[in-house]
Amino acid sequence: MGTWVLTGNRIDTVGKVDFTNKLTIPPLATSTVDAQGRRVFDLTAQEGIHDFGSGRVSPAWGFNGSYLGPTLRAKAGEQVVVNVKNTLSQQTTVHWHGMHLPAVMDGGPHQQVAPGATWSPNWVIDQPASTLWYHPHLHGETAAHVYKGLAGMFILDDPAATSLALPQTYGVDDIPLIVQDKAFGDDGKLTERTPFLSGVGILGDEIAVNGTHSPYLDVTTRLVRLRILNGSNARVFNFGFSDDRPFNLIGTDGGLLEKPASMNRIQLASGERAEIVVAVTPGDKTVLRSYDPDQGTDFDALNGGADTFDVLELRAAATLAPAPDVPAALVPIDRLSPDDAKVTRKFSLSGHSINGKQMDMNRIDFAAQVDTTEIWEVFNNDGDPHSFHVHDVQFQVLTLNGAPPPAQLTGWKDTIFVPSDTYYRVIMRFTDYTDPDIPYMYHCHVLYHEDAGMMGQFAVVKPGQAPGRPPAHRAGTAHGGH
Ligand code: C2O
Ligand code: CU
Repeated sequence: MGTWVLTGNRIDTVGKVDFTNKLTIPPLATSTVDAQGRRVFDLTAQEGIHDFGSGRVSPAWGFNGSYLGPTLRAKAGEQVVVNVKNTLSQQTTVHWHGMHLPAVMDGGPHQQVAPGATWSPNWVIDQPASTLWYHPHLHGETAAHVYKGLAGMFILDDPAATSLALPQTYGVDDIPLIVQDKAFGDDGKLTERTPFLSGVGILGDEIAVNGTHSPYLDVTTRLVRLRILNGSNARVFNFGFSDDRPFNLIGTDGGLLEKPASMNRIQLASGERAEIVVAVTPGDKTVLRSYDPDQGTDFDALNGGADTFDVLELRAAATLAPAPDVPAALVPIDRLSPDDAKVTRKFSLSGHSINGKQMDMNRIDFAAQVDTTEIWEVFNNDGDPHSFHVHDVQFQVLTLNGAPPPAQLTGWKDTIFVPSDTYYRVIMRFTDYTDPDIPYMYHCHVLYHEDAGMMGQFAVVKPGQAPGRPPAHRAGTAHGGH
């Protein structure tokens, strides 16, 4: 039976992609500095027609363009303002995935932006250099809004990262890769493909990188840094190169690692990021591929676990600019100690619920006290693969199934893949931004599950404060922002 299912559902584009389209690099967002010294960005959510290449031309949504959005970039210590204008005909929100910021600025389900409205959150960048991203988070609509194209990268810089001898020229040797599975109809238009018996919703059968179908990248330097974001709705990718060449993993969701880790596969679930550095030789060609991911069950294939894709061809120039080897040490990471944790919480992921409960906009599930460290234990007890994402904080993985974490889980994380029978202990610290009434979210980042209610809310409070109640939503009003 398993075999029938496997054969019937398996997608394999290896060797079948012709790489005819030059990879689009999302533009760096322009910004201005206002009278208060704040860096101001403008993002307009809009409808358009996007040309993915290869005859795939489709209605789509984007920020400041027809599909995806510009890359926002800011430095630690800077105050930023983003004017988010919604020109769509329906509500949306824009969440800053991985960002440490006040809950009212977070862009979660409570910070709705009505059609025609502009929401202007502002905050101070207060976390290490990292590759974050932004996307809508309207409850029940996140999957549709992201799939139509609303997403972009948000790169943070700090002196420790900038001073390292790493490739860091955007679009030249430091390349953003927003990898998404997509499906197109015979008319070339985007379709939402949800395979029969899929437990995770949309699973496209083709790949777009930065909104480019069948892409290639011209590499002009000996080393190239790829900032990979799995921007899919549900699909898990297991990236590696077609010739199995090793690469150095240098960063994960929330920042650089302490030291590079050489490997030849990196698996990323929806929402996770990895920064890798790969070496090429003059005239060299290699393909970034997604091998079949390990999703931990026998029925894996139903949820894309047997699928393989050619993603992007790297084409090295005949002459390459030299580059120093990746430094042996990257950045120090302060380890959070379990001895400091006052609270341990358990999160059981099952069906479309967390701890048996579904998302209720009016219910704050618990409050974390400011200036405390907590351990969260996350389990998956069911047959579908899930993931777990926490807003506000970056956390550290203490153990995965009782063992020390593998290299890719040794740095700062905000999203972890939680397949069946998996048990994590993670540790985090809540440092500021108390607000008893406006919650942060924790949820499965399979967007279909999230929309179906696999999400909860927590507040960060002062000592002795109880969680309050989120404000009621008046249709057509933008909340938050100052
Ligand atoms: Cu990327 Cu709460 O989401
Ligand atoms: Cu899930």
